Amino acid sequence: MHSLHPVHARPAVQALANSLIREVANSGMGRSDIVPFWFGESDQTTAPFIREAAIQSLQEGETFYAQNLGRPWLRQALADYLSALHGQTMDVERLAVVNSGVSALLIAAELLLSAQDRVVAITPLWPNVCEIPKILGAEVVRVPLGVHEGRWSLDLDRLLAALTPDTRALIVNSPNNPTGWMLSEDEMTAIVQHCRRHGIWIISDDVYERLVYNPALKSAPSFLRHYQPGDRIISVNSCSKAWSMTGWRAGWMVLPPELAADAGKIIEYNFSCLFDPVQRAMAAALSRGEAEVARLRAMLGHSRQTLTGALTTLPGVEVPDSGGAMYVFFRIHGHEDSMALAKALVQAVGLGLAPGSAFGAEGQGWLRWCHAVSDDAKLLDGVGRLQRFLIA
Ligand SMILES: Cc1ncc(COP(=O)(O)O)c(C=O)c1O
Repeated sequence: MHSLHPVHARPAVQALANSLIREVANSGMGRSDIVPFWFGESDQTTAPFIREAAIQSLQEGETFYAQNLGRPWLRQALADYLSALHGQTMDVERLAVVNSGVSALLIAAELLLSAQDRVVAITPLWPNVCEIPKILGAEVVRVPLGVHEGRWSLDLDRLLAALTPDTRALIVNSPNNPTGWMLSEDEMTAIVQHCRRHGIWIISDDVYERLVYNPALKSAPSFLRHYQPGDRIISVNSCSKAWSMTGWRAGWMVLPPELAADAGKIIEYNFSCLFDPVQRAMAAALSRGEAEVARLRAMLGHSRQTLTGALTTLPGVEVPDSGGAMYVFFRIHGHEDSMALAKALVQAVGLGLAPGSAFGAEGQGWLRWCHAVSDDAKLLDGVGRLQRFLIA
């Protein structure tokens, strides 16, 4: 039947990109001979003491609605965790518990962005971070990272020039997915001063802040340490990466206190509250999880060395240095089309990597390899497959 009223979503939603990581994964999922490194998660299950907290909660019948911004005991545990991490008192009134880092990004966008607002993002970048503002009709301007002297780095002057006075928000993800690039303290200071001057919001995606390769650092440089009353800074974060809790959908936001009541409304109209067993698990992770974070960091430091060491023995492979996260972003001389390469690797040798172009045009020619893998043999098997592909 022909309809005068076409059935489709808003144009802004139709225009959203599909995940190219999924496209590669779909081409190989279900095959038993694949070694997958395409998704950004550790191969470890969540620690038993965190799972126990959720089990106990379920057994005690904690199955009811909770407060929009999270249970008071969880917000207090979060405040204590952040105060200890950043060495300054975190006010509970600035905290909102949300159901994942992705949700935190969406809530930040819903709080701040209107159609046609200009948002600047440092790229390449995990696609969700740039697509979410577009749901609200905002326009995302990309400022690309580059490789200088073998390291991923930011052209600060170029970024500050892009942050025009009519810019509504800057989105920064440091350590960055996919490159592992990490903002320095000096760059952060310059960005904060510039954004303060022009009233530009900073949305800082901090999901990898604990996963830094330098063992002397407890966390990556944090915008939260720069926060002064009146500042326009939002931090989004989650338990997914540092506590191996990707499936739990457990996240949080740190907001200026002026925004907390409105965040509560947006949470009410999105998902209303988190399931109590998840809140119990979060509280356990935040208050008793330091050894767990340390274990994961040690594993990541080791696996990164194993992987980069093996990759750099292959001819034509370039692996820039980086500061953190859980990825090696690399390229192979002579292979410029990362989507074609990622699909060919799946088909020919069963190696599952994410194509760099999934993270924007700046990622074309690159591949992302998640090295959050506890078994060296699995990583080396992957490198062996790549080698077979390259010499075939
Ligand atoms: C940069 C970045 N931000 C946010 C997230 C969101 O993680 P989650 O929604 O599991 O908390 C991810 C996950 O891959 C990420 O890479």
